[in-house]
Amino acid sequence: MPYANIDVRPLNPTLGAEIHGVDLSRELDDATVSDIRQALLDHLVIFMPDQRIDAARQLAFARRFGEVEAPHPVFDVVPEVPEVTVIAQDGSADAPYNDVWHTDVTFREKPAMASILHAQVLPHGGGGDTLWSSLHAPYEALSSGVRDMIEDMTADHDFYMSFGETVLKGPGGIEKLASDILALPPQTHPVVRTHPETGRKGLFVNRTFTKHINGLGYVERDYILRMLCEFAEHPNYQIRHTWKPYDLAMWDNRATMHIATSDFTSPRKMHRITLLGDQPYH
Ligand code: SIN
Repeated sequence: MPYANIDVRPLNPTLGAEIHGVDLSRELDDATVSDIRQALLDHLVIFMPDQRIDAARQLAFARRFGEVEAPHPVFDVVPEVPEVTVIAQDGSADAPYNDVWHTDVTFREKPAMASILHAQVLPHGGGGDTLWSSLHAPYEALSSGVRDMIEDMTADHDFYMSFGETVLKGPGGIEKLASDILALPPQTHPVVRTHPETGRKGLFVNRTFTKHINGLGYVERDYILRMLCEFAEHPNYQIRHTWKPYDLAMWDNRATMHIATSDFTSPRKMHRITLLGDQPYH
């Protein structure tokens, strides 16, 4: 795929590309934004090294690709730019981590279209890498019998599965949890999702928020969900990123899931923006 305005360097045949020749501290022209959008569709996760921008510039960049989501129900936000979520861990054993495979906010009716993550503080001594997995490639690698079996299945995704305990232990305790549960009831999504822009199909389940597959007995539904998650987590479909200062990553949540390793012992902080998505369909 030729790009007239950016330099795109694919990292592996399944997903991932580095983008050079873009300075996010400046306003981007429409042609450059269109190339970046195309690179995202082609490579699912794109990395832009050494972007020395603040939260307001990250937001300006995000807005070129769509509407920004409401603040996350659990994570802190940057006070002066509340559209930017702060994902911070202090390296202690009881800190919350993102170290279970997930696609961002699939507990919402319209899960995020894309996420944009900017490195703020990286742990001394390394660690805290992020891995992404394509959800197209494992779907395409399933045998036709399994593909046929899951084709019309749906699954419920639930905020409570991952965040329930954190909210319960946090400020507001049980009252905050009750109001979050009312505001964010479980959502039913197809197990196989059609990408709304490329038409490519992919799996749409993850260990963090997918509660169960519907219409099956509880033994079958757990085994099939686990099998699909394990299949999609195979290293064949992954890319791993070791962060450098000021790195920015953008990924397509309609076609990927990700995990951050929790193998570090000093603070790590990232700024994340999620863009509003559409209702998944198949
Ligand atoms: C996320 O899970 O959205 C953030 C991943 C990371 O902190 O590397």
